[in-house]
Amino acid sequence: MIRTVAACVAAAALVASTWGVGELLSRGTPGESVVRDAQLQAKAPGKDKAPGKNRDLEHASLRDLGRRAGVLIGTAVDISALDADATYREHLASEFSSVTAENAMKWSELEPERGRYEWEAAEKLVRTAEKNGQRVRGHTLVWHNQLPRWLTDGVESGAIGPRKLRKILRNHILTVVGHFRGRIYEWDVVNEVIDDNGQLRESIWLKNLGPGYIADAFRWAHQADPHAKLFLNDYNVEGPNAKADAYYELAQQLLRAGVPVHGMGIQGHLGVQYGFWSAIQVAENLRRFEALGLQTSVTEADVRMIMPPDTAKLQAQAQGYSTLMQGCLLATRCRSFTVWGFTDRYSWVPGTFEGQGAATILDEDFQPKPAYDALKADLALAARRR
Ligand code: XIL
Repeated sequence: MIRTVAACVAAAALVASTWGVGELLSRGTPGESVVRDAQLQAKAPGKDKAPGKNRDLEHASLRDLGRRAGVLIGTAVDISALDADATYREHLASEFSSVTAENAMKWSELEPERGRYEWEAAEKLVRTAEKNGQRVRGHTLVWHNQLPRWLTDGVESGAIGPRKLRKILRNHILTVVGHFRGRIYEWDVVNEVIDDNGQLRESIWLKNLGPGYIADAFRWAHQADPHAKLFLNDYNVEGPNAKADAYYELAQQLLRAGVPVHGMGIQGHLGVQYGFWSAIQVAENLRRFEALGLQTSVTEADVRMIMPPDTAKLQAQAQGYSTLMQGCLLATRCRSFTVWGFTDRYSWVPGTFEGQGAATILDEDFQPKPAYDALKADLALAARRR
């Protein structure tokens, strides 16, 4: 990896509660307990007349608690749900202070035909966010997935050679970042550029442009919007493994070469069947990036499970979310925590991971799961420390 990263920079220079079993069982089917308790308590006589800390906590939104703890709470947004579902829109507005386009800012969506940009869906998201007083994370400029056919076919047929491809990439970054200039606080400039062995990913970009494309992408994005914070972003880098080490090295080399990289994003796509890093390990991992001068963010948290869900899996899921949130809160420059969708009704997981699902913090009927309360508790505790 050292060689690969060095080459990159060189090229860039050129270019428990104690519940008994009985009680648990009597609480009904998995996930219902929290909901039902909340509903029952909400209906309890005199409840509204007795404001106090507990009541505040129960009714506080993630975004409120996040504000008190000093972290933006974000979600990926599905534009069709935004268009079609009023309940979705309500939760989006009340619970979150930051949004990321789940797909609408990806290359295939923004530039389906060469030179013809379709801004509508992405604009709709940004306008909605502005109306809701939410910030916008940009996702993503350079990725190996969800590229338009004209580009991948063009490279494959040889119609687009390396020089042309570099021009196309430059143009895309300048156009997209320029279009949203001033309205996006963080951009995922390069997404998933290192593979699970800690090597630069053999993508269309690396194969055709060489490793210098990474530094180039950051420079072009910075030129187009000098105020946006520019991020590296990837999955499976939550804790201190070989892949995270490779990112650490990449970040170090880029910074030494004066490349405008400002942040490290950890996606956080977890699964209960794999177990989790501890919050301390996540925090230490983030803190080493912060020691380089970078900000950090959790950018795409979700915790999937093998279907169907049960009480134990939902509680394990809550712990998974919590380790990411606590890791972020225990770090010093982790400014945003984004979930990759907030309701199982619209999650990408069942369509991507066969037999898995239930990965978000609200169920298909928008009812809170244990993970939702776990995040709130973490935020409230962090707010108390401030
Ligand atoms: C996913 C979306 O959620 C899906 O709707 C789409 O079909 C594929 O991409 N890492 C990323 C995200 O950086 O862009 C991916 O989003 C999930 C994994």
